[in-house]
Amino acid sequence: MLLLGDVFPNFSANTTEGVINFHNWLGDSWGILFSHPSDFTPVCTTELARVLNLLPEFAKRNVKVIGLSCDSVASHVEWCKDIKTYAGYNEDEKFPYPIIEDEDRKIAMQLGMVDKDELDTAGMPLTARAVFVVDPNKKFRLSLLYPATTGRNFDEILRILDSLQLTDRAKVATPVDWKMGDDCMVLPTLPEDQVKKVFPQGVTVVPLPSGKNYLRKTSCPKL
Ligand code: BEZ
Repeated sequence: MLLLGDVFPNFSANTTEGVINFHNWLGDSWGILFSHPSDFTPVCTTELARVLNLLPEFAKRNVKVIGLSCDSVASHVEWCKDIKTYAGYNEDEKFPYPIIEDEDRKIAMQLGMVDKDELDTAGMPLTARAVFVVDPNKKFRLSLLYPATTGRNFDEILRILDSLQLTDRAKVATPVDWKMGDDCMVLPTLPEDQVKKVFPQGVTVVPLPSGKNYLRKTSCPKL
């Protein structure tokens, strides 16, 4: 089983941009691998179009994106035309991110992305809607797994990236519904005698019935 903190498995795959080696393709970037049940399906088309429109946001965060669907590259290439149109993208422009083919479900099985409740017409399981975030050290940092009938929220995926990148660089954690710029929590592992030095901007301790001073807020660190 793949655990957060593991090196994300490397693999070679045929994609709409030719054969890639996943780790080489990532280079020094963060990466998001997101899977889809199958081509020419409505929810998937809205998701891939949304990714197309969010590419500048991913680029700002040094994140490369790559899709995966169980169908062939030839099918993906045809489907990309629909996705571009749905996204309001110029149809003559090259589709700007790769989509992996996984007709034999080899990668889906390797990465635990199969949904055994969703079958194709031949009775083969389809891929679920997985989101895997990998950092520039190829470390597996985050996983989401949705069923075929529930489309993902890509604003949440950007929020996740902001949190991962911020908390890699500052001794904070991001609370419920946090957005970039909102107050953060001081890491519970940071000893009290270091708090002033690490957060000269100040920390507010929220009083709680337990009397334990663990809920310590500070303004969002500027990076
Ligand atoms: C969709 O993308 O719309 C979809 C795909 C498989 C099952 C249900 C919905």
